[in-house]
Amino acid sequence: MQDYSRVRQLLQARRAGHALPQALYSDAEAFDFDMRAIFWRQWVLVGLEAELPQPGAAMALTVGTSPIVVLRDRAGEIRGFHNSCRHRGAMVCPPGRSQRQVLVCPYHQWTYDLTGRLLKARRMQAAFDPDAHPLRPVHVGRVAGAIYVCLAENAPPFDVFAAGLAPLLAPHDLANAKLAHEHVFVERGNWKLVMENARECYHCAARHPDLALAFPAEVRAHFAADEAGHTDRFNARMAQAGLAVGPTMGDWWQAIRFPLNEGVVSLTMDGKHAVRRLMVEHEAGDVGSVRWACEPNAFCHAVADHVFLFTAEPSGPQETIVTAKWFVHKDAVEGEDYHVESLVALWLTTNLQDIELVENNQKGVNSAGYVPGPYCEEAESLVMRFVDWYEREACGALERMG
Ligand code: FES
Ligand SMILES: [Fe+2]
Repeated sequence: MQDYSRVRQLLQARRAGHALPQALYSDAEAFDFDMRAIFWRQWVLVGLEAELPQPGAAMALTVGTSPIVVLRDRAGEIRGFHNSCRHRGAMVCPPGRSQRQVLVCPYHQWTYDLTGRLLKARRMQAAFDPDAHPLRPVHVGRVAGAIYVCLAENAPPFDVFAAGLAPLLAPHDLANAKLAHEHVFVERGNWKLVMENARECYHCAARHPDLALAFPAEVRAHFAADEAGHTDRFNARMAQAGLAVGPTMGDWWQAIRFPLNEGVVSLTMDGKHAVRRLMVEHEAGDVGSVRWACEPNAFCHAVADHVFLFTAEPSGPQETIVTAKWFVHKDAVEGEDYHVESLVALWLTTNLQDIELVENNQKGVNSAGYVPGPYCEEAESLVMRFVDWYEREACGALERMG
């Protein structure tokens, strides 16, 4: 394995409170390091259980460029595997969602059941032991209907995160959600630039005028109480309705139920519910948003009428694939209770605006004259939290590598 001496030097050169050195946003070596040190070690959000509604439902995707498959087995259990055949490594499940009785490798037809056990391997010699060649599992963590995976041999603790998030999400009943729409964006920017963009609203007032109508874009220190008492009144109302507001926070996550702007009940263009069949009936669906964000690569919003998931999958040193998903109540009928267009308009617009910002950021970072500048402590506190977390994880990984 590489010793990543250049990454070591770059991390040592980083000034506290400042953006990262250029090569950490652009180099192939740093990218390769990030996959091993970050994406193959951490819990990563893959979606909601509602995406795997029945036994045999499977979802194949990549986590830090490494293919995995997540599925619901015949007993209803959610399982995850490295999507790599135990024969010569071909992917056993095609990318995307599908329905499977078994997993048949397309290369030489080795066949696995939904628990990963190898059922058939044609013409193999008598000494071959199929039981010694199951698909390799990955860790699966579940919280309130959301699925996380971890590719590490020893996964970091998940329970504290799950215990903190579950009460916030419980009223949203994600188990009874359905996927209403999915949009995949390819962004020509390093994954860390994508996430830095997603962790601040310093740019929102000027660059996301629609989002800023719904969202407290200028609140001091992100979700801190505002001076007009809006947050206090909201918290008192939620307490009365029996809805948890948090916040809950750990090294790699933060979650809170926070109030949207005055008169706004959903994260939509007009601030109104886009879905008639609500996921949360309390307070006539005026329950703010539960925002939960997890390092390395996700943020989500659960409002009364829908849930929005954003995940960023690195695909190259200067390319990231962002997946946006919108979920609604499983009984909501498209065309009657909601129209996809109005459901997705706000985040779709916001993401398209962010792509422009991220791609422009990458180009400028690649400049011969780039010098990492200071973050705004008030408006970019969550970016600083992200970058500091990255630095800690990266240094920890380098130490383990020796
Ligand atoms: S690589 Fe899967 S059967 Fe040969
Ligand atoms: Fe943005």
